[in-house]
Amino acid sequence: MEIDEARSLARALQQLVQQAHTLIDESRPTPEVVARVTGHVGCPLKDLVCVTQTFRNWEHASLQRGVDAYLEAHGEADWFGVSGHGREHNDTMDILSTAHRGFESFEIGAVDYATTAVGPDETMEVVTFGLVLTSAPDGSPIVVSLRGPAEMFRREGCRMEVIAASRATATAAREEIERLMRRHDALRGQILTFGVSEHRGNSLVTFLPRPSLDPEQVILPDGVLETIERHVVGIGRHAEALLARGQHLKRGLLLHGPPGTGKTHTVRYLMGRLPDVTVVVMAGTAMRFISEAAALARRLQPAIVVVEDVDLVAHDRRFSDEGSPLLFTLFDAMDGIGADADVTFVLTTNRAEMLEQALSNRPGRVDLAVEVPRPDARCRAALLRLYGGDLLPEVDLEPLVARTEGMTASFFKELLRRAVLVGLAADGSRPARLSAGHVADALEEMLRGQEALTRTLLGAPQPSSRVTNGADGLLPE
Ligand SMILES: Nc1ncnc2c1ncn2[C@@H]1O[C@H](COP(=O)(O)OP(=O)(O)O)[C@@H](O)[C@H]1O
Ligand SMILES: [Mg+2]
Repeated sequence: MEIDEARSLARALQQLVQQAHTLIDESRPTPEVVARVTGHVGCPLKDLVCVTQTFRNWEHASLQRGVDAYLEAHGEADWFGVSGHGREHNDTMDILSTAHRGFESFEIGAVDYATTAVGPDETMEVVTFGLVLTSAPDGSPIVVSLRGPAEMFRREGCRMEVIAASRATATAAREEIERLMRRHDALRGQILTFGVSEHRGNSLVTFLPRPSLDPEQVILPDGVLETIERHVVGIGRHAEALLARGQHLKRGLLLHGPPGTGKTHTVRYLMGRLPDVTVVVMAGTAMRFISEAAALARRLQPAIVVVEDVDLVAHDRRFSDEGSPLLFTLFDAMDGIGADADVTFVLTTNRAEMLEQALSNRPGRVDLAVEVPRPDARCRAALLRLYGGDLLPEVDLEPLVARTEGMTASFFKELLRRAVLVGLAADGSRPARLSAGHVADALEEMLRGQEALTRTLLGAPQPSSRVTNGADGLLPE
């Protein structure tokens, strides 16, 4: 065969194949999933624009609420899903173009839902994979898709896609959904704590019930609770007037004192006093989420960020950026919030001296430091009454108060429980009253040598430790 003949044969064959392709392409029906999207938006696949926005795992409920509110206002057709191999690994535009080219069969399928918490004992259903036809604020047709976090596929975060005929249209819809999302934020007014899920280390937020304590249940020296309350609650209450007078709202409170004296207890009291305030509680290694926590607090203000036992992780470098101690990450997070934000940082510590240097090197982060001391005689009597309740009406508290010098509040709570046990053992039935003997026996038991560790764990001083109010004499030799 002549070379020219071979060339023209090749060319002819090429054309034939191309024509066959075109014919097949045109004769193959557009997959329904593609048709539903392009048909609604009203333009061919190649002209679609997709705007994507991602959110953290814990925003899923808020995102769903934002989309729901949007659909309510702008009208919707039903949600639909996509079935087919590999859909989890593709974004919507990938799915559509793969389906269009006939490479994979993606079909219209069921919507995937999951439940997510929106309160300590409340959940809502959220779309984890689904699309919905609706219209943009300007009335032109759009498609919104939602994806949730998928641990199975190692995907963190939620994703929203808005598909439209123009970028301006898609962006306008995205902005409106985000605005509604913030208005219907599921985290606002909640008590939240950061953690890491057991599976694959996904970050998550847990809701805690709001405690409710009377001031009478918080036994502190005169004026201490009032000072704390004025700083945290008072500034918030007068936020507008303070701002109008050029005063800042952001505040930092440090509660320090021996373990078991009521620092956490006081924080719980504050939470109850501020029923509408968002609280983010950070403890232990969850502290690595402090920047996220601060961002949440700023967005959901009025808010409180509680950093529990800050001394325990302050110098940990493992989780912070650039290997700097977590304490500096905390300071940066505190600095990152504007002075006019109604955000309180409450730090608690058993070892203020560990923080003193760092705090004084970077002044202004903590504007009130309050010592939560071991209870004095008046407070010890009050603690006996508080935890003894109705069980101690006829008991002379004086000797018990004297015997318990140096003990912390949590010691009294345990003491009264033991006294009830002693009473039960003695009487065999439920004692309606405790005698002085019951409490004294329980106290002796707790002060005995074998219970040294118990005492330490309840915050009582060791014989060797120097305690200002001279509790040493209390402890057995
Ligand atoms: N000042 C207090 N008044 C009343 N109860 C207290 C007080 N301090 C501690 N308690 C009791 O002891 C428990 C442990 O105290 P907590 O506040 O956790 O101590 P810490 O100072 O180590 O944070 C509290 O849950 C509470 O029941
Ligand atoms: Mg505590």
